[in-house]
Amino acid sequence: MVNSYEKIPVEIFDTPSNGSWYAAKMIADAIRQKAAAGQACVLGLATGSTPITLYKHLVHMHKHEGLSFANVISFNLDEYYPLERDAVQSYWSFMHRHLFDHVDIKPENIHIPNGEWPQKEIKQYCLAYEAEIEAVGGIDLQVLGIGNNGHIGFNEPGSSIYSKTRLVTLDNSTRIANAKDFQNISRVPRLAVTMGISTILKARKIVLLAWGFKAPIIARAVEGHVTEQVPASLLQQHNDCVFVIDEQAASDLTRIRTPWMTGEIEWTPAMTKRAVINMALKLGKPILSLTNHDYNENGLGDLVVEKGDAYEINLLVFYMLRDSITGWPGGKPDAVIPGHPERSEIQPKRCLIFSPHPDDDIISMGGTFMRLHDHGHEVHVAYQTSGNIAVTDEFVTRFLDFAVGFEDMFGIDSEKSRSILLEARDYLASKKPSQVDTNEIRQIKGLIRRCEAAATCRYVGLKEGQWHFQNLPFYETGTVQKNPMTETDVELTMDLLRKIKPHQVFCAGDLADPHGTHKVCLDIVMESMRRLKTAGEDWVKNCWVWLYKGAWQEWDITEIEMAIPMSPDQVMKKRYGIFIHQSQKDMVPFQGSDAREFWQRAEERNANTADLYAKLGLTQYAAMEAFVRWHY
Ligand code: F6R
Repeated sequence: MVNSYEKIPVEIFDTPSNGSWYAAKMIADAIRQKAAAGQACVLGLATGSTPITLYKHLVHMHKHEGLSFANVISFNLDEYYPLERDAVQSYWSFMHRHLFDHVDIKPENIHIPNGEWPQKEIKQYCLAYEAEIEAVGGIDLQVLGIGNNGHIGFNEPGSSIYSKTRLVTLDNSTRIANAKDFQNISRVPRLAVTMGISTILKARKIVLLAWGFKAPIIARAVEGHVTEQVPASLLQQHNDCVFVIDEQAASDLTRIRTPWMTGEIEWTPAMTKRAVINMALKLGKPILSLTNHDYNENGLGDLVVEKGDAYEINLLVFYMLRDSITGWPGGKPDAVIPGHPERSEIQPKRCLIFSPHPDDDIISMGGTFMRLHDHGHEVHVAYQTSGNIAVTDEFVTRFLDFAVGFEDMFGIDSEKSRSILLEARDYLASKKPSQVDTNEIRQIKGLIRRCEAAATCRYVGLKEGQWHFQNLPFYETGTVQKNPMTETDVELTMDLLRKIKPHQVFCAGDLADPHGTHKVCLDIVMESMRRLKTAGEDWVKNCWVWLYKGAWQEWDITEIEMAIPMSPDQVMKKRYGIFIHQSQKDMVPFQGSDAREFWQRAEERNANTADLYAKLGLTQYAAMEAFVRWHY
């Protein structure tokens, strides 16, 4: 145990892939040890986005490192109910797609709760599932993911520590989170069969995996009270359980968030800023009102000893915050401001905004986007992906009706276009929930989003030629599951960067992106910039990269290096810019767990940043957009 705050051992890795390797090795060791003793290895397995890379690594170990699954008996945690085994969304399909079809496990050793069992016999069925686990001697190693609400398996908050395998009702938040696999929340089953908490706790060893945006619930499960309201916290009662998580998912643990509480640390300016801001917010005091007493009472006595006096520390942090605020995102021309976040020289600048989806530019940095253009900079936007999967079938049908009507109205007689339109409409009318769109439908959906993006650029004041649709190939799978970045993605991005030679690049710095698209888009820009720098291209020396956060969260106030204030009128102007993306208004297929519309999320987030600055004793603005600089 690292410190007394953590009540479950936690292993932190820099990336989900490295964490998955660690877990894969644990599993491989267990399988090999049992095989050497001539015994079966009983694994409890999970589904969901979290263990996909783990299964990929296990398949690799099977194919290239001689890991055999011949002695493995598996029991899966759960299955939707009712759901046919063959549905793409079933956990039966998931397990075969990601693991079982690629390894030598014996089909008779695979156990996955049956989503097709008649409901009147389901109790008996669940008892039999438990009995089967007992009959093979219990689970040796149980793999778990964790829901945002703390569920393990489908044991939602409130599940008893004594619960066994049973039929349960899914929490609404779980149905929303999993709607991505069913295109629409109404199609997500309401029930599921799940192993109980007691079933899970009986496993001899447990490994729980979590990546990215799970930080708040990980902190509650590891450091909070044991409570049935956070089912994963019940794992504190197990004597051989480990959490394998990445840095993002660890970011709310005390040792990461407030490391000064867990031992001696080096008081760099960034660490000082973090500690002081955290304390000021906790005490509800402006920075300049903090006293020596406050520092001592809040675990920051060391800092006062080192720096001498609260007054000095307060000023240092206050000036850092003050200097991050600017109405001049492209730098203030002809002004010598030493602490300004951007350079005043090179005016006007060429700016390139990378927008992972066609609306991230306006949602996440719309105020800054408009400001840059209004200040006379040459602003370009690169829409990295088509965003086609986020357009509903109903929305496309409306456009198809329009196109058919348009042809009728003006007597346009093109057999080819007619047949594309009619076929597309028929396809959508008879499309099954699990069906992947045809290439034509995807193109039409992409076109709808392109038109919306171009309209937004015109609204901001840009001219044709200043927006660029990259249609990066990694995205074009037609499903929510994306490919990793490819060489073509990087080459297309390097070509665009070479063409524009920007002085400023803005991109979405989302390291914890639930669907993975923003993260891949960021990796592509970073890889391109690194390569261009290594190639020694001259313009790169003058190019600064600023990261904004995408639609899910904001930078922590302690990390922000440039904050662009907005007036109430600018907030409204940004809102109308977001409204242009009509295909993304109201209900979208991949909403995530936040039911609000994008403009609402953006406004709340920007107002919140402004409020935080005000609470810390700086000027109160209506809203603020925030950026962190990436040094490459
Ligand atoms: C899956 C399961 C669930 C998931 C959890 C996290 O078999 O039982 O508890 O582990 O919902 O899902 P992802 O990994 O998709 O975030």
